[in-house]
Amino acid sequence: MTAGLKGLKYFVRTFGCQMNENDSEHIAGVLEREGAAAAGRPEDADIIVVNTCAVREKSEEKLRSYLGRLASLKKRRGVLVGVAGCVAQLARGDLLKKRPFIDFVIGPANYAELPQVLALAAEKPGVRTQWSPEWQEFGAETAVRASRVSAFVPIMEGCDNFCSYCVVPFTRGREKSRPSSSILREVRSLAAEGFQEIQLLGQNVNSYRDPEKARSFSALLEEVCAVEGLDWVRFLTSHPKDFGDDIIRTLARRPEACRQIHLPLQSGSSRVLERMNRGYSREGYLALASRLQERLPGILLSTDVIVGFPGESEEDFERTCDVLRRVRFANIFSFRYSPRPLTAAAKLPDDVPLEVKRRRLIALQDLQRSIQIEINRSFVGREVRVLCLGPSVKGGGRFAGRSEGGQIVNFEAAGDPVGRFVDVRVTGCGPYSLHGTSGPADCTPRRFPI
Ligand code: SAH
Ligand code: SF4
Ligand code: F3S
Repeated sequence: MTAGLKGLKYFVRTFGCQMNENDSEHIAGVLEREGAAAAGRPEDADIIVVNTCAVREKSEEKLRSYLGRLASLKKRRGVLVGVAGCVAQLARGDLLKKRPFIDFVIGPANYAELPQVLALAAEKPGVRTQWSPEWQEFGAETAVRASRVSAFVPIMEGCDNFCSYCVVPFTRGREKSRPSSSILREVRSLAAEGFQEIQLLGQNVNSYRDPEKARSFSALLEEVCAVEGLDWVRFLTSHPKDFGDDIIRTLARRPEACRQIHLPLQSGSSRVLERMNRGYSREGYLALASRLQERLPGILLSTDVIVGFPGESEEDFERTCDVLRRVRFANIFSFRYSPRPLTAAAKLPDDVPLEVKRRRLIALQDLQRSIQIEINRSFVGREVRVLCLGPSVKGGGRFAGRSEGGQIVNFEAAGDPVGRFVDVRVTGCGPYSLHGTSGPADCTPRRFPI
């Protein structure tokens, strides 16, 4: 530890995906290594870093309102305000021009330089954003982890797919895979620290290619699962076009690989998928989903869906609903299309009226809610193995955890089950979670009953 920031307090606010959450853990780690300590709220901090997301218009709206709050905070007291993450990468100088109260801007490839950027910003505001063509190394030791039970481990970053609606290739640059030796070192050290679960992260985890040994994602997954002391391994996000049989074989062979896959669909219409440049058809997606469900009994799938992409007809939308009925996802994340800067789709007319987008989103979510209730009800009366992550946000002395399939489970337990596996007898459910009562905690994972 150096003492450059000793006596100062920092606050990091994170928007966006798990990659950003993990980056924020590293931002906190870099600041603490320099001697700073965490503040519980922005009002008590000397340094505030806002880690931003640019993926949808709504993400930027949320950011605008948060930055407004910080502007008024800054009028009241001296504090260094920095913007990090994907908007920082994308908007660069603009952010500083439009919002002079911001002291520094730092892109995702530059977090290791945070101490130098802070020192400069304390003298005069500056911009530091750029992509790096190489993997930027942050070891396990740099992170201040949000959980002591489940840890994020990035394995690749960036994207070469250029889906026509998506800004991520412009915020994270081209695909960069992390050397497997470094990934395994981090995973082993997390297992030795007592973490039970690892979540491998990347914009497209399954296009991972080890720069040292040219190994594939399935080979890496196999090695991560074999690390002593690890119980559950998850990964996200998988691209359907890169989901080869080798990955299915690894999932079938390794009990540590959780039977849960996030597999973004985006649209159930081949015509729309082609215009989205997704690289698969409706039939291709349905065939992959059936293969996964047949070969990995009990697997739960989740997905992302966009409604109102340019030119999406009522019939296209109905085809998306039809895929939801056929696949029966355990969870979906659904969004109204919004045009993003630099993307190919931004040049198409955004011709689905806002009220039609709204109506389709509500119809899709209503349909999904009824499917989820049915899936969750099928667990009532059964025993489900749960990794306890901490106290339940619902309070009442209850605990919360995740099942192997990724469902949130709130439960009552005797003693302290945090960080341990428990068998929860499911007594009820809602569309988004299960609840019940746990038996005694132990440490061996087991598949939930199918
Ligand atoms: N790498 C992942 C997810 C990237 S962004 C993947 O390939 O699927 C997360 C989700 O945001 C996407 O899956 C998509 O559903 C949504 N999204 C991205 N761009 C969008 C846009 N312009 N409008 C609406 N939703 C968008
Ligand atoms: Fe965006 Fe498509 Fe890449 Fe996912 S695969 S990050 S949606 S461009
Ligand atoms: Fe958002 Fe960047 Fe993630 S744009 S979704 S934070 S990669």
